[in-house]
Amino acid sequence: MGDIDVPAPGMDITKPNIARVYDYLLGGRDNFAVDREVAELILRVMPDARQAPRSNRGFLRRAVRHLAGEAGIRQFIDIGSGLPTRGNVHEIAQAIDPKARVVYVDYDPVVVAHTRALLPDDDFTSVILGDLRAPESILDDPTVRGMIDFDQPVALLLLLLLHHINDDDDPPGIVATLRAAVPAGSHLAISHLHNPGSRRPEDAELARIGEEIFQRSYGVGRWRDVDEIVSFFGDWDLIPPGLVPTTEWRPDPGDDQIKYLTHYTVLGGVAKKT
Ligand SMILES: C[S@@+](CC[C@H](N)C(=O)[O-])C[C@H]1O[C@@H](n2cnc3c(N)ncnc32)[C@H](O)[C@@H]1O
Repeated sequence: MGDIDVPAPGMDITKPNIARVYDYLLGGRDNFAVDREVAELILRVMPDARQAPRSNRGFLRRAVRHLAGEAGIRQFIDIGSGLPTRGNVHEIAQAIDPKARVVYVDYDPVVVAHTRALLPDDDFTSVILGDLRAPESILDDPTVRGMIDFDQPVALLLLLLLHHINDDDDPPGIVATLRAAVPAGSHLAISHLHNPGSRRPEDAELARIGEEIFQRSYGVGRWRDVDEIVSFFGDWDLIPPGLVPTTEWRPDPGDDQIKYLTHYTVLGGVAKKT
């Protein structure tokens, strides 16, 4: 991967890979021709599609900064963490408190190996192989149990992940299991691909085409409407500004506020368990 463009042992480069397509859209070099083909297909339909992952990473940065800062959270579980890029969760949280603990979880062994290779060698950051569709196995994982104190508030991060879970896999049930495992004061951050339906027909058409490309490429893909996305937070309280396009979630002064074609493609929000 990257500079040398040689696959690691066991890596399948005949099929597009979610993490590598995302990496390509973010301008990374950890991707292969098969991934770039899917990304280019997406870019043909949405010429500014690179903006959606970038806005999502901005949301991640500001949400984690809020969680580690104002909200005082010291433990993070980032599921579907993806290939490391600039501004990873542990870097943001540990800039606020070097002892903040972060466990990354991804179901892709290559993502896990890559993340492990880049992690600091200490007791505060770790990565495990885990599938969101089996949430108990993540919660019961010995590394998770060793690093996370489930009697103290936890930040659960599900960023650009739930659209990879088809309805048959019961995503509301999965997220409810995670919510039930953590105590009051915990937070849940979600960003999700959005289908605005009849409110914005052009964006709904993009969502339909996007879903089609994802289903064909990966066998998963679901753009959800606002009610479906909000329901993932259950009875937790969405903190202001609620569920909004990711660029509108507590932007920093000077942040880009141009309404790109993909402005409404990714919504993000953070909720607190009371
Ligand atoms: C679009 S990337 C998002 C990366 C990062 N969370 C972000 O917001 O920048 C989605 C990641 O979720 C992972 N993923 C997809 N389905 C998963 C599942 N069922 N369980 C765990 N990880 C999954 C993929 O391997 C990929 O790394």
